[in-house]
Amino acid sequence: MNPIPNCIIETVDTPAYVIDASQLVANASAIRQLAGPQATLLFALKAFTLIPPLRTLAAHVDGFAASSLCEARLARDLASSSGRVHFTAPAVPARDFAELTRISDCIACNSPAQWERFASLDGTASLGLRVNPGLSLTDDERYDPCRTASKLGTPLAEARQWLDTRDDSAPPVEGIHFHSNSEGDDLAGLDQTVARVEEALGAHLHKLQWLNLGGGYWYPDADNRTKLRPLVERLAETYGLHVVLEPGMSVASDAGFLVTQVEDVFQRDGRTIAVLDTAVNHLPEVLEFEWEPELLPTIPEGPVRCVLAGCTCLAGDLFGEHGFARPLVPGDRLAFTYAGAYSQVKADWFNGVCPPTIYLTESDTWNITELRRFGYEDFLRQYSS
Ligand SMILES: Cc1ncc(COP(=O)(O)O)c(C=O)c1O
Repeated sequence: MNPIPNCIIETVDTPAYVIDASQLVANASAIRQLAGPQATLLFALKAFTLIPPLRTLAAHVDGFAASSLCEARLARDLASSSGRVHFTAPAVPARDFAELTRISDCIACNSPAQWERFASLDGTASLGLRVNPGLSLTDDERYDPCRTASKLGTPLAEARQWLDTRDDSAPPVEGIHFHSNSEGDDLAGLDQTVARVEEALGAHLHKLQWLNLGGGYWYPDADNRTKLRPLVERLAETYGLHVVLEPGMSVASDAGFLVTQVEDVFQRDGRTIAVLDTAVNHLPEVLEFEWEPELLPTIPEGPVRCVLAGCTCLAGDLFGEHGFARPLVPGDRLAFTYAGAYSQVKADWFNGVCPPTIYLTESDTWNITELRRFGYEDFLRQYSS
């Protein structure tokens, strides 16, 4: 991460997302380096969909991964005609299939039933199956794709049975996709997952064209990062497969900051509360996953404890308690880190609070451009008929 400088924090209109486009490119390039030239590197749009920096990123990835028709359209636009577009979702809506197959290179259906349904229609995309490797790598089932009774992908045993019973004259299943982790910090988990898939699907892997290993790993700090390239090369060479990676978080997370201003400070039951001009709705995973966001040291850390509260009327709109070198006062600026992924895409209008103004910067110059500002007209547009 390249911390944004104080001159940006002090001058933007808050609340503000500040996106560092050069960090996006640096992150994607670092993953490409780890994975080696045989990997196809896609960016998962669900993590971040701000178009101008994605146009810059497009030159540094092989394409985009989409999970809805809107994302697929954007992916095709960003990737232009030569880049790759992969699609997977818990269901491929029948009404979208004709367009999806025209604009996607590969579609991973979530179940054999969906696969059969779409294989019988005219389409140009390469059709594959999303499998669920059934190996839980996280203890928290809120974001474990391999949780019990998961909706995400076909269990390996069922996939194997289906593949075994398909007749040779039927249209071929051309790819397998899995996405089985969340913020995984050890690539040994990916190795183990692939081993399960190989064991379960056996010789069927030789008949495929592509294997998509999904996202779900925190590549910057992951243990066993040196495993990635040999894994990709082994899969490509053993099975003659295009091996695809589709990270989101690892590319976008540390490229975004949420800058906010303290609006009021008061004492309640022996604690100090600072109310900010932002809300957890602008960093929704704070509430969804009980995540306590970190701050840049605009005000150095210290012993003065303060609860940072969002500005909506929800009692639980809280960012956690932080320690500062001095008491906070109205007008102080704070900047939350790791706000690039799953923030702007999930931000909403709860309580009529406008989503943050979006600024784009580049860490080589720190020049800053305002991309989007939200106001009353946008609020009305949400709800007008
Ligand atoms: C199918 C699929 N691919 C890729 C990703 C990106 O994962 P991450 O942002 O954790 O790298 C996700 C995230 O939910 C996903 O569901």
